[in-house]
Amino acid sequence: PGMSLMKHYLQFKDLRAEEYAYLFERARNIKTRFKNYEKYTPLVDRTLAMIFEKASTRTRVSFEAGMYQMGGSVVHLTTGDSQLGRSEPVEDSARVISRMVDIVMIRTYEQTKIEQFAAHSRVPVINGLTNEFHPCQILADLYTWLEHRGTLSAAGVDLSCLKGRVVAWVGDGNNMANTWLQAAEILGFTVHVSTPGGYEVDPVVAGIASSDCYKVFDDPREACRGADLVTTDVWTSMGYEAENEARKKAFALWCVDAAMMAAAKPDALFMHCLPAHRGEEVTADVIDGPQSVVWDEAENRMHVQKALMEYLLLGRIG
Ligand code: CP
Ligand code: NVA
Repeated sequence: PGMSLMKHYLQFKDLRAEEYAYLFERARNIKTRFKNYEKYTPLVDRTLAMIFEKASTRTRVSFEAGMYQMGGSVVHLTTGDSQLGRSEPVEDSARVISRMVDIVMIRTYEQTKIEQFAAHSRVPVINGLTNEFHPCQILADLYTWLEHRGTLSAAGVDLSCLKGRVVAWVGDGNNMANTWLQAAEILGFTVHVSTPGGYEVDPVVAGIASSDCYKVFDDPREACRGADLVTTDVWTSMGYEAENEARKKAFALWCVDAAMMAAAKPDALFMHCLPAHRGEEVTADVIDGPQSVVWDEAENRMHVQKALMEYLLLGRIG
C-alpha cells in the first residue's frame, strides 16, 4: 500500500468500530483455517521486527508464530542486545529498522516513545504494550467475548451486541484499564472501575473524549454487580516493581474472588490478560473455574494479531 494509506496501531482508538467488525471477521476466518490445518500465507516475503524493552511470553509467541504461519518472517530485538539499550535515538532506530522490514511491533515504557518511533517509520507500527496502553490484548479480549457471548459467523460480526453491556474492572488503573475505556467509548459499553485510592484511571491519560463510558466504584464488589464480564490484572505492572510492597498493601481487597463473581451476572465471564498471580489479584477458584476464559484470551492474541497484520499490510481483502 502507498504511504498515504499507512496506518499504525498505537492505541485502541486508532481504528473505528467498523474496522473492528472487519478485523473480528478476518480473525474468525484465519482462526478457522488454523484449526483446520489449512495453509494461509498472504504475507510471504514480509518481515516483522519485534522490539521488546520489557519481558513477554504471549506477545512474543503470538506475533512470532502468527507471522511465520502467514508465510513471513520475524526479527526479534531486545534493549539488551541491540543499540536501543545504548541510547541510539529512537528516531534513528525507526528510520533504519523501517527501511528493512515491512511492519514493526514495539513493547516499551512511555507511549511517547512508540509515537516517536511511528512518526519516523516508513512502515506500520503496532503497540505490543506500553505503560499507557495494551490494544492488542483488548483486541483479543473483545474477540473472546464475542466468541463466547456474541455472534461471530461467516455472515459477519455484529458488534451491536456489546452495546449497553457492563465490564467490571477490578484493580489498577493501568494500561489495560485505559484500553478498556477506549474500547467502551468506541463500541458503546460501560466499564465499572474500582481501584484503590491513588491508583485511579486518569481519563486524560486514557485518551477518552468523555467520561460517559465508565463509572467509578469504591467497593470492588459493587463494581461487579450485574456485570457481563469481570476482569483484572496484576497489582504491579512491568516498570513499577519498586512500588511492589506498597501496592501489595493497597490492593489487598482488590482480589477477584467467588463473592465478586457471584455479584456479577450468572453467565458473566472472567478475563485476565496474564500472567496472573493466584491469591493476589484473583483467587485460584475463579481463574481456574468455569467462568474463566483466560486460555482462550491468550490463544486469540495470535488469531487477532494475524488479522491485524494482514489489515495493516494488505488493507481490506476480498
Ligand atoms: N498478556 C500479555 O501481553 O502477556 P505477555 O507479557 O506474556 O506478552
Ligand atoms: N499491566 C501489565 C500487563 C502485562 C501483560 C503490565 O503492564 O505489566
